[in-house]
This record gives sequence, C-alpha cells and structure tokens, in this order.
Amino acid sequence: TDIEKGTYPHFMLKEIDEQPFVIRKIIQEYQNEKDEIKLDPEIREAMKACDRIYIIAAGTSYHAGLLGKQFIEKLANIPVEVHVASEFSYNMPLLSEKPLFVYISQSGETADSRSVLVQMKELGHPALTLTNVPGSTLSREADFTMHLHAGPEIAVASTKAYTAQMAVLAILAVDTARAKGIKLDFDPMQELGIVASAMEALTDQKEQLEELARNYLSTTRNCFFIGRGIDYYVGLEGSLKLKEISYIQAEGFAGGELKHGTIALIEDGTPVIALATQENVNYSIRGNVQEVEARGAKSMIISMKGLDKEGDAFVIPHVHDLMTPLVSVLPLQLISYYAALHRDCDVDKPRNLAKSVTVE
Ligand code: AGP
Repeated sequence: TDIEKGTYPHFMLKEIDEQPFVIRKIIQEYQNEKDEIKLDPEIREAMKACDRIYIIAAGTSYHAGLLGKQFIEKLANIPVEVHVASEFSYNMPLLSEKPLFVYISQSGETADSRSVLVQMKELGHPALTLTNVPGSTLSREADFTMHLHAGPEIAVASTKAYTAQMAVLAILAVDTARAKGIKLDFDPMQELGIVASAMEALTDQKEQLEELARNYLSTTRNCFFIGRGIDYYVGLEGSLKLKEISYIQAEGFAGGELKHGTIALIEDGTPVIALATQENVNYSIRGNVQEVEARGAKSMIISMKGLDKEGDAFVIPHVHDLMTPLVSVLPLQLISYYAALHRDCDVDKPRNLAKSVTVE
C-alpha cells in the first residue's frame, strides 16, 4: 500500500492519533463560507421527507449507528431503527410509509449491508450511504453519499472511521433539525471542535493507558465493559476492539442488566471497565461498579471531568453529553492496542479477520 506508517509501529496507533485531525477535517468539509452546514440538498430533502430512518451496518459501524439513532431522534425528532445488516432480512421489521435507509460502512464494501441495500432498492426505498470510500459499491448503488473524510483506514480494527461516522451523523441530525425548523441550542461544529481538542489532550496520555492495559489485561482470560445509556454503546465498541485485536473474551453489558444474569460471570480478579460520562446515570453505574467489586472484580472507571470521583482510573475532558462517545472511545482503543501488544498479538492484522467482509 502507498500509505506509510511513518514513525508509528502500527497503523492502528497512527489512526487513533489521527482522530482530532479527522474531526477538524469533517468540520471543514461540512461547512460553507457562511458557517452553515454544507450538505447535498437532495439529502436534506430525503431526510425531511421520510417518516422513519432505518440504519443498516455491521460491527463498529453498527455501534456508530446506535449513537446516530440518539442524534437523529433527540435532535431531529425522527424515529430511527438500527439493524445489524446480516440479520435484517430474517428479522425484517414492518416498514413505515416513507422509510429512508441509511447504510453506514467504512469500506463501502460490506456484503451484508449491500444485500439489504439491493433488496430495499428493489422495493423502491431510498438509500443514503455514509462511507469513507466514495467510489465504493455501497456509495455507487445508493442514491446519496456522505463522505467520512477519515483518510484511508488500514488497520483491521476500525478507530478513526468510527469517530468520523458519529461526527457526520451529528451534523446530519442537526441539519435535518434545522431544515425542519426545530430550534436547537446545539451547534455541532462548535461541539466537534471541543471534541477534537479533547481528543488531542488524550493522545498525550498514552503512558497512563498502557499502564492500565498492563495491569488489567496482560494475562486475563476475559474482560467486561459496563455502561448505561450512550456509555453502554461505547462499551460495546470497546469490547469489540479488545476482542478483535487481543483475543481476550470481552463483552459489553448494560449496567442494569448485570443482576439479570451477567454478574454470575464475575470472579476474583475479573476486569470490569465501567464508563461513567453521563450525569443522569453516574450514580447508578457507580452502584454497579460496587456490586461487581463486592464479587471480586478488578474494576476501572473511565469518567468525564465534572462527573469524576477520586479513584477513577481515567478522566476524559468535558464535552457535550451527546458527544462523549467520540472521546471516551479513545482510551478504550488505546487500552485495546496496548493489551494486544502485551499479549504479542498482530495488532494491524488480527487472526481470522479481513478489513472488509465482502461475502455474506
Ligand atoms: C471493526 O473494528 C471491525 N473490523 C468490523 O466490525 C467492521 O466495523 C465491520 O466489518 C464493518 O465494516 P464496514 O464499516 O467497512 O462496513
């Protein structure tokens, strides 16, 4: 490939570090001279015209879609369903009268997503693709494309494309809200600027994260991520990252679900990574941490400035509460990276995986 790692030992680390630049690039690309959102007017019309959005994606892109649902529902007031592409046709929901399908795919080549796109296009349902590769299959076959502007992502584990997807979804949600005349006190470009600076601050804290990875993950067999609300989504992404590059059996759980079964898995020394970046769940997620600790878990809390407590393992800078996933995922990406290094895993090319899954 033409893309070089430069001084970086791995593409994954390089791509993690690129995230603040990617966010700034997105701010630039989606803004015009008048500081308005720059977007294909046809996309704006399609968003305005639909009565429900169906987000279709796989893996990390699916996790970005979960936050996309929050952005679009909370800001633009349109109901959203998020579906794992490979499951869609088996568990096909009853469609609304005017559905709009949004395909999220870094590569634009994921066969499971494409298969939904082809079927839904046959039924006449419009398609918007969010992709990092404008000429890709999912982009060419859709009616509209939004470019992620993340630059080539080489490492199999997706990092900068995930944060780019969430940033673009936030912009799309706000644009739709404005087009519908909804008054918001949320300026996506300003909030993304704050996110980019927060990301930058984190890339200087690698030693601390390497230390956490060494302490918690160098020999463990498994690891759990817990969170509530949008922190839960970030936990899902953190656990996928850890699984795919370190081969540690990892799972993300909703804090409130622990007592419904999962807590049985906690043994002496089981690592539990808890996300606490949301004010409304700060108290209850910390309660969950106490519950798992009482059963022997070795817990680590990742919180946000303003909500942090003494003893938290890592504190991210303060950002808007809808934007926390874009920042809180960075420590998780880095912890996974260092865990994989300590376990001598092939970070950029983990076993059994391909960068894009082009078969169903
Ligand atoms: C992410 O780290 C994974 N390698 C994988 O889950 C990926 O996100 C998924 O295959 C979807 O790929 P896409 O975004 O290119 O469609």
